Amino acid sequence: MSKAYAIKTQNLTKNFGELLAVNKIDLTIPYGKTYGLLGPNGAGKTTTVRMLNAIISKTSGNASVGGYDIVAESQKVKMICGFLPEAPGLYSKLTAKEFLEFIGELYYLQKSVISARIDELIELFNLEGRENDLLEGYSRGMKQKVCLCAALIQDPEIIFLDEPTSNLDPAAARMVKDLISQLVKKAEKTIFICTHLLDTAEELCDIIGIIIDGEIKVEGTPKEIIESVGARDLEEAYLKITGASHIDDLLGWREENPNNNHNESKKNKNKKNKRSR
Ligand SMILES: Nc1ncnc2c1ncn2[C@@H]1O[C@H](COP(=O)(O)OP(=O)(O)O)[C@@H](O)[C@H]1O
Ligand SMILES: [Mg+2]
Repeated sequence: MSKAYAIKTQNLTKNFGELLAVNKIDLTIPYGKTYGLLGPNGAGKTTTVRMLNAIISKTSGNASVGGYDIVAESQKVKMICGFLPEAPGLYSKLTAKEFLEFIGELYYLQKSVISARIDELIELFNLEGRENDLLEGYSRGMKQKVCLCAALIQDPEIIFLDEPTSNLDPAAARMVKDLISQLVKKAEKTIFICTHLLDTAEELCDIIGIIIDGEIKVEGTPKEIIESVGARDLEEAYLKITGASHIDDLLGWREENPNNNHNESKKNKNKKNKRSR
């Protein structure tokens, strides 16, 4: 598939048994861009990211990451991608430094390169002085920093961050958010981020996709999406696109239901009009 794009998918689909988690998604993400995938819980964000990182297999469709096919060249995909999972596992009996050395070795990096990168990352993430402490003694925010270091250690071309601030207290979330801003603004990397932080997404993302029930419903720049629904900001646009459409769907079904009497139907129509004003 395409080498011209950092991420390209065609009809990418994932079923878990009967459940259609991701339904024929088409993504075209150029190199150097930051893509934000937004959507309610259970919409299919994590499943998409796990397929793109060759962690789970697709059911059908095609996808390439960095020009490599996610099935036929899954090892290459893994080598060029950094991935911060939604619920990362850490080896609590290792120190941060030992853990990062271990991850570096998984990427076949030379010892001298690993050591230099660890020093850089420890400094960037303000973990100096704590790198030789066991991870079991780290706070959640610090653990998340170590996971981000692990995602960045092989200096990946393409970085996937799945809900990087979930499960963090506000101060730790703020810190991780600032680090991501720094990463986006400094490095000319391709970043794919699933997030609930709509202000961050509005500020940092070049392209936003909104996924609902496994389908990308809306895609565009934050400005395009905001303007398309006449919202003030991305948060309002997101709520209109995800929430309001559900209310309309529900009322629409009631109006079409032949068991509903005329008055009831009229009442709903009024309600609906009120909402859309
Ligand atoms: N390993 C799995 N087995 C079965 N169902 C799954 C599995 N992973 C995810 N799902 C289901 O797929 C849908 C999408 O989940 P997910 O991709 O985690 O959503 P999101 O990250 O947007 O919250 C959900 O209905 C979820 O329950
Ligand atoms: Mg998820």
